[in-house]
Amino acid sequence: MAPPDSYLRQDWQMIRGVPMVCAFSFDWDRIDKFQSRPDDIVISTYPKSGTTWVSEIVDMILHDGDPDKCKRDAIFNKVPMLEFAAPGRMPPGTEQLAQMPSPRVVKTHLPINLLPKSFWENGCKMIYVARNAKDVAVSFYHFDLMNKLHPDPGTWDEYLEKYMVGRVAFGSWYDHVKSWWDKRNDHCILYLFYEDMKEDPKREIKKVIHFLKKDLAESVVDKIVYSTSFDMMKDNPATNYRMAPATVMDHSVSPFMRKGIAGDWKNHFTVAQNEKFDEDYKRKMADTTLSFRTEI
Ligand code: PPS
Repeated sequence: MAPPDSYLRQDWQMIRGVPMVCAFSFDWDRIDKFQSRPDDIVISTYPKSGTTWVSEIVDMILHDGDPDKCKRDAIFNKVPMLEFAAPGRMPPGTEQLAQMPSPRVVKTHLPINLLPKSFWENGCKMIYVARNAKDVAVSFYHFDLMNKLHPDPGTWDEYLEKYMVGRVAFGSWYDHVKSWWDKRNDHCILYLFYEDMKEDPKREIKKVIHFLKKDLAESVVDKIVYSTSFDMMKDNPATNYRMAPATVMDHSVSPFMRKGIAGDWKNHFTVAQNEKFDEDYKRKMADTTLSFRTEI
């Protein structure tokens, strides 16, 4: 086993063509052979697309909107990340999940081809959240600056180039959102958009409640909307990642709960970067019916 910290700021390790966080890449058999349970709820996203937000929403739905019950532990323990590993420092996500009572809520950023086949075989419910590519790039850049499990992202300009060709954790945003979109009609997948959640959180939360076949009073739904607002989650130690080890996440560089808006890309993209990005985007997204809003 690698000594703690030997995987900090290391380059990606390729797993079947997908750049993977070095710390997560060891013993990939643990992922391939992972045993799902039929009542698992999978929250799948490309990074920085609203995973934590939807995770907290699902946890609140399962706990009938009780904010105290939902503060029982940090989000990364309530909703473990399947592929997470920090050898010598924390138990891997697969181990955390194996010890959890059902129904488990499982977080993952894995692209379709890397998701353990057991989830498909068991027909597990999956919630996919997608966010527009430009805001994801900005959020991911700030995350790579503060999260030492990822290599140093370099300058914003350098980073944007790497992002466009998928040389970032979990690979290409384009492939990720498109392949999950294609899969949505063959499997029990609720495909949500971050921008829709910003526009009308109550409407989108109701979709999740319906998908999970729960029946909650209007007053409970209102409580969930209130407790999962950006401001509430930013102040909540269970959801703002302040409980994560400081050796890994440095919130003084950029807080995990950074801005939580749609359209922040406009504060970061230059005109030239935007033109180049749009041109490349058009090519990469020409073969899909999937469309995004970059502002609301
Ligand atoms: S991760 O690390 O991939 O799991 O990150 P993820 O949770 O997917 O995405 C983090 C971004 O989501 C924003 N966020 C929210 N926005 C609106 N409302 C709520 N409640 C909320 N919770 C998290 C978070 O601020 C990150 O986006 P940016 O743009 O960096 O602020």
